[in-house]
Parts: sequence; structure tokens; C-alpha cells
Amino acid sequence: MNLDIFENYAELSDKASDRMIRQLIDNPFSLFCLATGDTPRLTYEMFVDKVKTRGIDSSGMFLIGLDEWIGVRPQTSGACCRYLRECIIGPLSLDDSRVLLFDGVAVSELNECSKMNALIEEKGGIDFTVAGIGMNGHIGFNEPGTSPNAVAHVTVLDELTRRVGQKYFSDMVRLMTGITVGLKQVMESRQLIVMANGERKAPVIKRMLGEKINERFPASLIRNHPTAMLMIDREAARLLENGVV
Ligand code: F6R
Repeated sequence: MNLDIFENYAELSDKASDRMIRQLIDNPFSLFCLATGDTPRLTYEMFVDKVKTRGIDSSGMFLIGLDEWIGVRPQTSGACCRYLRECIIGPLSLDDSRVLLFDGVAVSELNECSKMNALIEEKGGIDFTVAGIGMNGHIGFNEPGTSPNAVAHVTVLDELTRRVGQKYFSDMVRLMTGITVGLKQVMESRQLIVMANGERKAPVIKRMLGEKINERFPASLIRNHPTAMLMIDREAARLLENGVV
């Protein structure tokens, strides 16, 4: 893993969107696995803008959602699938046949996992993942203690994830479980960018880089990824000295 520190959120988002653009140009049929949340919002906005203004053909790309809240209807604001539809799928007019998002209210959650696992396998793995980092070090909904060998699975959300997750919803929702692409699939992603911005992420970044690589803090596992880029802004890097802990 490499670390890149940017002046601010705008610069971080600009450079992250450039990486997505480079991936799309190099392989127009790339399988992208995308997180939602506050962190990548501007990255996706810039990515869409660059695709459009540069006339890049995005019709071949395939998009999967990294995770979803179980029990949250797709049309609810706060649902990960709604976010990806509004930020990327809609603006780029991606065909439904090139998108796979977890359905948080599906009859069978296990079937959702099987579909995702089968697709990732059929495509020969993920080409490019964009991930954020939770306040507890989660990647997607791979919560502390998740096995590094996990593929797509249903997970009981950590207390902190449930609490912090309320920020995405205008009304109180009951967040108990989630569904996520597994750590193994994320770690096997050919390209992986993990992003963090803002002061509140500074202790998280410090732990991610400072602690022994361990499953109790899933983000630390990213350090083992050969090509991963940890892209953060100055505020998130505040507790690092000389770019390291
Ligand atoms: C969301 C996801 C989560 C978030 C993480 C950081 O799809 O995968 O792991 O990336 O919780 O969220 P923000 O960016 O809102 O701080």
C-alpha cells in the first residue's frame, strides 16, 4: 500500500476521480466496486463530470455496490443503492444489465450474497475498488473481527456503525445488519483506493497505519495490498508525523 496526502478534500477527490478515469480508459469493461458514504461523494461527482466533458465511453463499465443496509428500502434516502443510482448510475445512464447492487429488502439475503459472489467470480475479480474507512476501521461492512477470507456476506453491524450510520438518514432507522462484499474480494481487487478526509478520521488513520495488521481493525489489512493507495487529506493526516505514525 502507498500513502498519498492531499492539501484538502477537493484535491483528494480530484486525484481519486483521475484514477477512476485512468482505469476506465485503460479498461473500458472494468468491474468497479464502489463504496457510498460522505467521503467519495465529490470523487464520483468529478468522475461523472470528467467522463461527460471528455466524451469518455462509460457504457462498458460494470458497477457493483460495496455494501447495503439490510431492511432499508432501495428508495429510502440513505440506502446505498439509491446513492449510487443518483451519483453515478443515473448521471452516466449505465444500463441495468451492467449494475449489481445488493437489495437490502430481498427475500433471501443469502441469495444476494450468492449473486454477488458469482458475478465477481465470473468477471475474474474486481478491477477497481473505491472504499472509505469507518470510525471503527471497517471496510465496506466488514466489521472488526471479520475474517480476511470473507466473501460477500451478511454482517451484524457494530454498535458504532449503527450509531454513525444514522447520519445518512433523515428519519431514525433501525440499523442492525448489513450486507457487504467481503474482505477477500476487496483485497484481491487489482486496484484499490481507500479514502479518508477530515479531522474526525485522523485517529482512524493513525490506528490504520500504527497498529499491528490485525482483524480487529480491518483497515489495517489494506497495508498488505500490493497496489492499494491510501488517499487522505491533511486533516485526516493530522496525527501522522512525516507521513507515518
Ligand atoms: C459505505 C461503506 C462504509 C463507508 C465508511 C465511511 O458504502 O462502505 O464502509 O465507506 O463507513 O463512511 P463516510 O465516508 O461517510 O465517513
